[in-house]
Amino acid sequence: ESESSSITIHPSHKIAKVNDNIYGGFTEHMGRCIYGGIYEPGNPLSDENGFRKDVVEAFKDLNVPVVRYPGGNFVATYHWLDGVGPKEQRPSRPELAWIGTESNEFGTDEFMKWCEVVDTEPYLCLNFGTGTLDEALGWLEYCNSERNTYYANLRRKNGREKPYNVKYWALGNECWGPWQVEQMTKEDYAKKAYRWAKALKLLDPSIILILCGETGYSSWDYYVLNQCVKWDVHGLAGDNTKSLIDMHSIHIYTADKEHLPNATAPRAAERAIQMASALIDLARIENKVPETVPRPTICFDEWNVWDPVRAPGELGAEEKYTLSDALAVAIFLNGFIRQAKDMGMANIAQSVNVISPLMTTKEGLIKQTIWWPLLLFSKYMRGHTIALNVRAPEYTGRTNPNWVRGTIETPYLDCSAVLGDDGFVNLAVTNVSEDQDFEVSLEGLKAEKVEVYTVSGDDVQVVNTEKEQKVGIKESSWDGKGKFKFGKHSFVLLRWKDGSAEAKKTV
Ligand code: AHR
Repeated sequence: ESESSSITIHPSHKIAKVNDNIYGGFTEHMGRCIYGGIYEPGNPLSDENGFRKDVVEAFKDLNVPVVRYPGGNFVATYHWLDGVGPKEQRPSRPELAWIGTESNEFGTDEFMKWCEVVDTEPYLCLNFGTGTLDEALGWLEYCNSERNTYYANLRRKNGREKPYNVKYWALGNECWGPWQVEQMTKEDYAKKAYRWAKALKLLDPSIILILCGETGYSSWDYYVLNQCVKWDVHGLAGDNTKSLIDMHSIHIYTADKEHLPNATAPRAAERAIQMASALIDLARIENKVPETVPRPTICFDEWNVWDPVRAPGELGAEEKYTLSDALAVAIFLNGFIRQAKDMGMANIAQSVNVISPLMTTKEGLIKQTIWWPLLLFSKYMRGHTIALNVRAPEYTGRTNPNWVRGTIETPYLDCSAVLGDDGFVNLAVTNVSEDQDFEVSLEGLKAEKVEVYTVSGDDVQVVNTEKEQKVGIKESSWDGKGKFKFGKHSFVLLRWKDGSAEAKKTV
């Protein structure tokens, strides 16, 4: 079997630029994500702002380009005005998504400050539940306006002269979900999203608006795209270079108790991207959108492995991730790289404590299994996605989460490759087999020395704890001779230094 396995890399065949924003994060007022996660005043590990320094460092190590906030479901009853101004005057409110109390001690200005400290861009989600358009416009004005107007002046009064220039704004979160205080029909949502988008872009035409999609291929996705992927008519004055909607959001969580469906289910996320991409094209055709109007991209703004039944914590959200989950995360990321041409952003859900690679304790930080492939991807899988031919045996058991019909072809070796701007060719390979190593001939590049980074462990169920890091990164090198052995249940990233030279030679 293994004799027939090969991976051929085509460094000269660039497919698309990988958008750095696929390594985005997400912080929600949920569980211990904000309070006790990124913000914990009084803890000796925190700075003068109350920000956990170890968490800030981890975000910097991960080089997270953009962070979504403040929800998630939380946002459906959130009023941003409660969270600005003197802290002692901020009201506590019942919080309806996670049935808690929101103190509003951490709000817009704190989040913006935190983004500056971390060196990342904010991405704000608007309240489509109990919020009004006036409130949304007020928030946009507070964040972005330089004018002498009420909310811009309120920001100045609260100590911030310059606008924050928040670029990314989401038109609600999972508005289709029965768990929302105001579950919407697709018709109601599309009408409201269109109206809000128009007004928000009139106030600040420079913003990027994200439409609330579902799985990427549902009738909701089709309908809302069809109604909102428009141009001209929205009042942006006959400008053929602007679009009303800039991105379409998808959320997918996968989980299965058994290793192989668990590790291979994220292939369904890749299929979702392809289908959403087709729906975007369809909307543009049906609405006769000129070629000059930028095509919306996909914002996969919640993705991860999450099984609320197995996960500890009050909300079933403090997941303890296994090696199997780490391989699943690597496959999600491989999919984002392979589909780079459509990907505008992706945000792992979430970044701290809640279904997260990072878990804080009072004394420190645990880096869970899923942290390690994420770190390797964020460090090295940037640049241009390049063509690959993969020949590997296929797993033939159950591959999909229940909600996907049919099976998805699933080679044991799931791969993606990029040509980095530094000239390195980087190949990411996940061997999902629980018991088979594969000897693979790697073709297309010559090498003297290849850097090798491996994430694996004794078995697929191992987890990292405060006391023991069973899964991490092992560094080694390969002389490029003969076949390369991909060990069972492992994620491997290989780096060839002379990739761009090879690319030139083969053009
Ligand atoms: O990330 C956890 C929750 O999952 C988010 O609040 C919501 O958008 C999704 O259902």
